Amino acid sequence: MSSVDDTPDALARNHTQWAQALDQRLPPEVGGPTADETLVHTVPGARGPAARGPAAQGYATTHAADPATLEATWGPLRQHRLRPLIAADNRPQVMAELLTAWRAVLPQARGEAPDDVATEAAMLAWPTRDPEMPPVLDAFGFEKTTTLAVLDRQGMGPRPRSAPPSVRIRPLSPHDADVAAAAQLWLGEVRFDTEHGALNERPETAHLLWEEMRRRATAGTDQAWLADDDGRTVALATVDWPDSNAWLAPRLGPGPFAYIGCVYVQPEYRGTGVGSALVREVHARIAEAGVPRVALHFADHNPISPTFWTSWGYEPLWTMWRASLARFRPAAA
Ligand SMILES: CC(C)(COP(=O)(O)OP(=O)(O)OC[C@H]1O[C@@H](n2cnc3c(N)ncnc32)[C@H](O)[C@@H]1OP(=O)(O)O)[C@@H](O)C(=O)NCCC(=O)NCCS
Repeated sequence: MSSVDDTPDALARNHTQWAQALDQRLPPEVGGPTADETLVHTVPGARGPAARGPAAQGYATTHAADPATLEATWGPLRQHRLRPLIAADNRPQVMAELLTAWRAVLPQARGEAPDDVATEAAMLAWPTRDPEMPPVLDAFGFEKTTTLAVLDRQGMGPRPRSAPPSVRIRPLSPHDADVAAAAQLWLGEVRFDTEHGALNERPETAHLLWEEMRRRATAGTDQAWLADDDGRTVALATVDWPDSNAWLAPRLGPGPFAYIGCVYVQPEYRGTGVGSALVREVHARIAEAGVPRVALHFADHNPISPTFWTSWGYEPLWTMWRASLARFRPAAA
């Protein structure tokens, strides 16, 4: 039996070893291509007796978001994604080779496509802690959009910031007025993050948010909290419980974890401790439910939220990179 590890999964194992040395919370990568993926390119490994399979591979998927669902608010209508696995020392050069090969097979990535990331974009998630890849992705026209960050239960302590005494935090009720107020606050958050390049408000968004808020209000588990001040609803937080978070498993492992989807405070109440009071309540419920970890995305270009979440102890794990097909350019030689 040969001692050389050249099984198809060796690349995934080597990539995982590298990633977990950067950040041990990153989950193992699976070998590819999976049933949904297409192999775009293989960078051959060293030849000879020391060979250990390919040095890198890139697997691509294309996903069309249904415009009649909130998926089209969270991302572009047409999403091209690459999953690179790299087991070489010269990672930046290898990534450049994978990106070049991927670009060559994308439909219009030759300068003729509209520069509109809400319609169609190339996307890639990469470990935030890797210092080598941002310049490479930058050179190909990608920019950071959002960061997926996590907090372990031991970090869920109170943050020393208290809301005005008149502010009261409570779960969302199924009353029409409550659902409407909560949906309006959620729309505020979508607009805020649309301005900062992370979300896409569409004509259907307001109605879809209202429908989703009504579903949450009648779901039988607390999935949203409101902050009231003097009879006025001024802030919202939403939580997705572990049974609806399987979509995050490739990024975070099997879980269980809670996911905070939205925190939004009316502009005139920001900086007064209302957001902290909501998050403190949500963390307390998550801890009470015995869920050990909580995750969320923040927009990298949001001027407020990255600092807010890191001050709670959230640690960035994955950075989402995105380029319109017009901007996805070949890197200068
Ligand atoms: C991010 C947000 C939820 C935080 O809620 P908040 O009620 O403003 O936060 P708090 O008052 O509890 O303050 C915490 C921090 O906000 C910052 N802050 C201070 N004044 C602020 C202001 N006028 N506006 C925003 N943030 C301010 C400070 O860093 C403060 O930290 P400190 O306690 O160490 O001084 C809120 O500002 C917001 O809704 N922003 C717009 C939407 C958004 O970014 N949502 C998050 C998407 S992931």
